[in-house]
Amino acid sequence: MPKTLRELFVDQFKLCKLTSSETVAVISELGQKTQYAEAAVAAARDLGAGALVLTASSLSNPMLPPYEADGREVAALLAAAAECDLVIDVTVGGLIHSDVRTRITGNGKRMLFVAEPTDVLERLMGDENLRAVVEAGGRLLRAGNTLRVTSAAGTDLTADISGENLPITHQWGYVDEPGRWDHWPSGFVACFPHDRTAQGQIVLQAGDVLIPWQRAVRDTVTLTVEDGFITDIKGDGNDAFVLRDYMEAWHDPEVYALSHMGWGVHPIARWSAFEVYEPRSLYGQELRSTAGNFMWSTGPNRFAGRETPAHLDIPMRACTVEIDGVAVVRDGRLTGEGA
Ligand SMILES: [Fe+2]
Repeated sequence: MPKTLRELFVDQFKLCKLTSSETVAVISELGQKTQYAEAAVAAARDLGAGALVLTASSLSNPMLPPYEADGREVAALLAAAAECDLVIDVTVGGLIHSDVRTRITGNGKRMLFVAEPTDVLERLMGDENLRAVVEAGGRLLRAGNTLRVTSAAGTDLTADISGENLPITHQWGYVDEPGRWDHWPSGFVACFPHDRTAQGQIVLQAGDVLIPWQRAVRDTVTLTVEDGFITDIKGDGNDAFVLRDYMEAWHDPEVYALSHMGWGVHPIARWSAFEVYEPRSLYGQELRSTAGNFMWSTGPNRFAGRETPAHLDIPMRACTVEIDGVAVVRDGRLTGEGA
């Protein structure tokens, strides 16, 4: 029998090692995703923990310009969240790339974003095995110097990932350590290559995925990448046209930057999710997590001081991902290297 959202939050909080002496803060937006806030509070109480809901009147979540950043309510949210142990983010867009996240986790708090429908939360719930595979990927990125991605479609991209201090994102979908952020559900590892080092070209083909547009690519699109920025977008079909139109709309050179790069490892996540579910009901975690994808992204990078709401996550199929010449993904399948 499928679990209720409250039961799923209980399972999730157990993974997060929530104790009865702790307090959960739920950050929400007025009138939005209220069932998530209520389920999180009820589940925290089921486990004997304290719980409160911090509700902003609204947070900006622009999909297209014009927009104006407005952080007035964030300072108050932060002050209250700082008194809690586990912060559950059920805002619409998620406080993912903002410095809110850094300020909460930098304080040693655990923070978890939740956005997917109940069915997806249940199907893709993380576990120790998933965590081990994500961590193994992180070790390979940490030890590597050069990330190279190729495909039969024509992708050939390299980026500098050298050094001990490379920012690496390990996402297995729960937060059981102080200072950890995650998004339930997840199953991927990614890094932020050194800024302005990515070079080459990325060739999108039908079946690759555009998030948050929540649809598959239909036409071939060739993106030229120079010094970490997209400098040309070519293609005969509508996809190249709308990608150019979207990027141009922001009138901001930062939107052309490459951001995180990595690969999916979740054994349950399916490419067909955008076809099977109502795609706009999804946040896209299932596609981000498909085992053997190469996922790269555009725009914001808090490690490079870049904040723009123009962020595309693009999981690609049938790529080969190599670290210093050793494939971790070959032709869209995990090689098991490092595991
Ligand atoms: Fe992203």
